Amino acid sequence: MCGIIGCAGRDSETLDILVHGLSKLEYRGYDSAGVALAGDGLDVCKTAGEIDDLRAVLAERSPAGSVGVGHTRWSTHGPPTDENAHPHLDCNRDVAVVHNGIIENYQQLRDDLSTAGHEFRSDTDTEVVPHLIEDALADGADPEDAVRAAIGRLEGSYAVSVVLSGVDRIFAARNDSPLVLGIDEDSEARSASEQASGDEPRAAYYLASDVPAFRDHTDRVVYLADGEFVVAGADGYRVTTLDGGPVEKTEDTVDWDPEETGKSGYDHYMLKEIHEQPRALRQCFRGRVDELAGQVDLADLSDLSPRGIHLVACGTSYHAAVYAARLFQQAGIPAQAFLASEYATSTPPIGDALVVGVTQSGETADTLSALREARRRGARTLAVTNTVGSTVARECDHAMYIRAGPEIGVAATKTFSSQIAALNLLALAITSVGDAREVISGLRDLPGAVQEILDTSTAREIAETYRDAESYFFIGRGLHYPVALEGALKLKEITYKHAEGFAAGELKHGPLALVTGETPVFAVVTGDDEQATKTVGNVKEVEARDAPVVAVTDGASDVERYADHVLEVPDTHRRVAAVVANVQLQLVAYHTADMLGRSIDKPRNLAKSVTVE
Ligand code: M6R
Repeated sequence: MCGIIGCAGRDSETLDILVHGLSKLEYRGYDSAGVALAGDGLDVCKTAGEIDDLRAVLAERSPAGSVGVGHTRWSTHGPPTDENAHPHLDCNRDVAVVHNGIIENYQQLRDDLSTAGHEFRSDTDTEVVPHLIEDALADGADPEDAVRAAIGRLEGSYAVSVVLSGVDRIFAARNDSPLVLGIDEDSEARSASEQASGDEPRAAYYLASDVPAFRDHTDRVVYLADGEFVVAGADGYRVTTLDGGPVEKTEDTVDWDPEETGKSGYDHYMLKEIHEQPRALRQCFRGRVDELAGQVDLADLSDLSPRGIHLVACGTSYHAAVYAARLFQQAGIPAQAFLASEYATSTPPIGDALVVGVTQSGETADTLSALREARRRGARTLAVTNTVGSTVARECDHAMYIRAGPEIGVAATKTFSSQIAALNLLALAITSVGDAREVISGLRDLPGAVQEILDTSTAREIAETYRDAESYFFIGRGLHYPVALEGALKLKEITYKHAEGFAAGELKHGPLALVTGETPVFAVVTGDDEQATKTVGNVKEVEARDAPVVAVTDGASDVERYADHVLEVPDTHRRVAAVVANVQLQLVAYHTADMLGRSIDKPRNLAKSVTVE
């Protein structure tokens, strides 16, 4: 998804800060990039391609200015070309705009502006904004009012940042797209040269789609809400409504270090984040579990007492939701997982249902929209998210944080494990589970079990063996069904190979027709209960069709007899076995993609945070 960075108050450092900020937003996925710097004039550089391509353009131009905005674009209107890259300009090249989201009434605005004589240079919806500002300026509005007036005419979703020639301020606003203000009023953060100059320390402000873009400069943030407008310059910042009405904002402090967004020596963020799972899981449990009492304390969440639960989510988070629905069902609470994008057309929630949005980023448009629909229908809502201050956390009645730390790789790994861990805690806190002590002790062992996989996994050998397969199947039952779905999603998104996850019992109802000696089947089987026995039966069915079988197993059943390879997992509680087995599948996906030379952290066509529906 598009990424925005803006900077005011850092003068000669502005360009470096923008480019560094854009590199920190790369994980969101993008296909072009650009910057605009405003001082006495307005300088814009942009290009299709990667940040390095932008750097090459900048090396020839060296734009300068006291304020600036930068952008990484993920195409929605028009292909990834130099012209379609942001920032976009008005006819006079005095106004530069970057935008994240979709302007729904852009065609009408564009037709009107074209009729009035404006010339458009791109296919984007965004370009209407600088032309609207241009019109307002021509009508005599001052820069701030001109930006407010233009934004007031937009329908749809947007985070917009604007700089203008000769104006040493940034203007920005949001509606349905994330935007956060970074506040750096600490003179120690000034560059050495500035401090040496003896000048009065001045404040610096950053505007971005996500905190990592400016986390190297400050940990103080203000999360903007829909309908808010911000003006920032070296002399301070002001947040109002779009109409100029007063708004009370509180400052937050980000509680993770800038180093957490580096690769720490790993080749890819994805591998680093896979290895961070034991720590992330411990963080998720910290202070929430009383092992002696066999209880989980989630403060006010423990009093939720829902009579029914709907979970809404997308992608990997949906798989965590499918897992959680089974947990709640086992505890006697009617529960169902919905793909967020389908929720509005599904069964309406009963009035007293709790609707749980599971979303790592907290900004996924489909999930936000499903939760808004649930609220419209009278349901209480709970956000299970990784991102403090995210839109979902602010809009829902309650929030529970999974505490996985920043996840940069587009492929969700540690956040899936932490979602499962957090949802287990939630289930323990709001239901009466007979074997709570046993589950809690299983959860306590989870970080160690994951570490054991990381230390001993033979996933790389499996990847080597099957790297050239055209198609892969993943099967599992019960709590392992969402693991099969997740194993397939991980493999397909980073290797670009066909992969499908199935409930093991479903194979014989159709997909078995596709199974040949060339179709590796990953079967997740732990324990030796009835479910395991039935899954072993399904493994025999594919083995009889010559399919190579990789069993992800703790060895309790006799699945190994029918498997060509085994990925071992330690003997753990059945609830946590799903997480542990999934780590093996994460590693298979990672190593396969690595051997195939794929763009692991930024797979083609995908974005980390999907802020359009
Ligand atoms: O931020 P969210 O958890 O709401 O994101 C939902 C999906 O876009 C996300 O889980 C996606 O499927 C993963 N990045 C795939 O690895």
